Amino acid sequence: MCGIVGYLGKREAYPILIKGLKRLEYRGYDSAGVALINDDDTLNVYKTKGKVADLEGFCADKNISGSVGIAHTRWATHGEPSSVNAHPHYSASKNLAIIHNGIIENYADIKNNLIAKGVEFRSDTDTEVLVQLIEYVQVKKKLDTLTAVQVALHQVIGAYAIAVLDKREPHQIIAARKQSPLVVGIGKDEFFLGSDASPIVEFTDKVVYLEDGSIAVMRLGEELKVVNLLNRELNPSVQTIDINLGQIEKGGFPHFMLKEIFEQPECLKTCMRGRINREANHVTLSAVIDYKERLLHAKRIIIVACGTSWHAGLIGKQLIETFCRIPVDVEYASEFRYRNPVVTSDDVIIAMSQSGETADTLAAVELAKESGAFIYGICNAVGSSIPRSTDTGSYIHVGPEIGVASTKAFTGQVLVLTMLALALAKERKTITDTVYEEVVKELSVIPDKIQEVLKLNEKIANLSRIFTYAHNFIYLGRGYSYPVAMEGALKLKEISYIHAEGYPAAEMKHGPIALVDSDMPVVAIATHNAMYEKVLSNIQEIKARKGRVIALVTKGDETISRIADEVIELPETLECLEPLLATIPLQLLAYHIAVCKNKNVDQPRNLAKSVTVE
Ligand code: AGP
Ligand code: GLU
Repeated sequence: MCGIVGYLGKREAYPILIKGLKRLEYRGYDSAGVALINDDDTLNVYKTKGKVADLEGFCADKNISGSVGIAHTRWATHGEPSSVNAHPHYSASKNLAIIHNGIIENYADIKNNLIAKGVEFRSDTDTEVLVQLIEYVQVKKKLDTLTAVQVALHQVIGAYAIAVLDKREPHQIIAARKQSPLVVGIGKDEFFLGSDASPIVEFTDKVVYLEDGSIAVMRLGEELKVVNLLNRELNPSVQTIDINLGQIEKGGFPHFMLKEIFEQPECLKTCMRGRINREANHVTLSAVIDYKERLLHAKRIIIVACGTSWHAGLIGKQLIETFCRIPVDVEYASEFRYRNPVVTSDDVIIAMSQSGETADTLAAVELAKESGAFIYGICNAVGSSIPRSTDTGSYIHVGPEIGVASTKAFTGQVLVLTMLALALAKERKTITDTVYEEVVKELSVIPDKIQEVLKLNEKIANLSRIFTYAHNFIYLGRGYSYPVAMEGALKLKEISYIHAEGYPAAEMKHGPIALVDSDMPVVAIATHNAMYEKVLSNIQEIKARKGRVIALVTKGDETISRIADEVIELPETLECLEPLLATIPLQLLAYHIAVCKNKNVDQPRNLAKSVTVE
């Protein structure tokens, strides 16, 4: 789930590993550690609860020399966050050290077997079980490290990305993956390892994204070798990564989240590049061209996703149903995968995931595949697991998103869904030329309108100070704005730890209105569209109970401005594109409230950027 870094070469490993861990900090973690093999072949493990900076402090008086090393940031799943449970974990003899992302599901059985055989454990983690198992089979069957890893992994059920050091084979790192990503960077006479490419980009642009079930063998002075669990040699495909350092640094912003909010106009332009033709007023998605027949004949579309991506899916449902007249279900991937859903070969599944690594979404894809459904991925992380396991898809191309709270990926997802709905509707002839052209034309100016909304940053920062007192927030919207309200509430919850709910405005009177009093801030999306009058009445109902209304209105609105306590004005746009604008002030509101409350905006507590465990 969390961060893995590795280095093998001729330079000092420690600074590279620490830098790499810092680049992975955005993923959220609770402890950190490093293992290094010195020139005299001793294997040192240093680890501590807390941040990478705490690890550096801890290592200040330690021997940190060595040009082979692995390092980890842990997001605890088995055993509390503590120095003992932090990775790397030694084997009993301390000959081996392991780092691991993921979960070993059958760890309890393996642990009991090993305990019965006399193995003693130091930590509560599932990870230590794996390193003890590797050592057990290694000793018992007199195996080299690679073979011992292969034999041990045969016994393991679960998800893992691991890296293993053995001090008796000091110029080697063994790394293996199943359902949890790993990338190997190839330099000149050196190798880098990362759970994503961010610790690697600074050193090399040549990478191998390891396939599921493969093991990378990095040895000094040798080419990268990739094998499977049965030791069959695989042909790794070396790719050039297109991420640059600037994209993973803050570029003058105090937080990645703010940088990413401000990047949205540019990102959305990139997302549309080559897809929206302004002159011809036309949308082209290569996946729709390549798989036209399959997509056009979809009897139903099921969008599977989690969190923010699920919210984008809800907007996608409205877009696709409105323009394409195909029924769309939007499912939490975690529910879908376990409730024996009815999926047929006439269905198209859209798997939506920023990271492309979300375990539940990946499992939903695998399940749907069994029924012969056609799988379409909408992801951001290029080369990640979901795009690799789908039939086709569209990348959102918004660049690496480092802030744990998703911002630009959300608008990117909504944009891709809009383009998909338009391209499909055009082919299905369920949209008139006038509407099609109107939406395409308006899409191409959306980045400029977002730029205009971003000018409200200062105003929203001031507004946020007033509302830091709140313990609860309600967000209301209708139609296309209802998922936006939910997304606004999620953003606030995630980074400020204020409880917030997103509701369809008309549902208020069926229960939640009981919560409204003079302390309750209510954010109402009340832009000028078909639902305007209805939302206006809903706002009146809240004001009648003394709730404090922050209204998002269309520029020039006078009616709501008179009733609401605070007003945020948005440029006019088409109703179906309003989510792309209305989301921005809600991101900024959550951001500034969290900053006022002195919270760790980029790495909120308990959250991880890429949820590769169930
Ligand atoms: C977003 O702010 C959240 N951190 C979270 O809900 C996220 O959207 C969810 O975990 C899904 O991630 P994915 O898009 O990478 O699949
Ligand atoms: N399951 C392991 C643990 O709890 C690894 C967690 C992670 O992915 O960081 O130690």
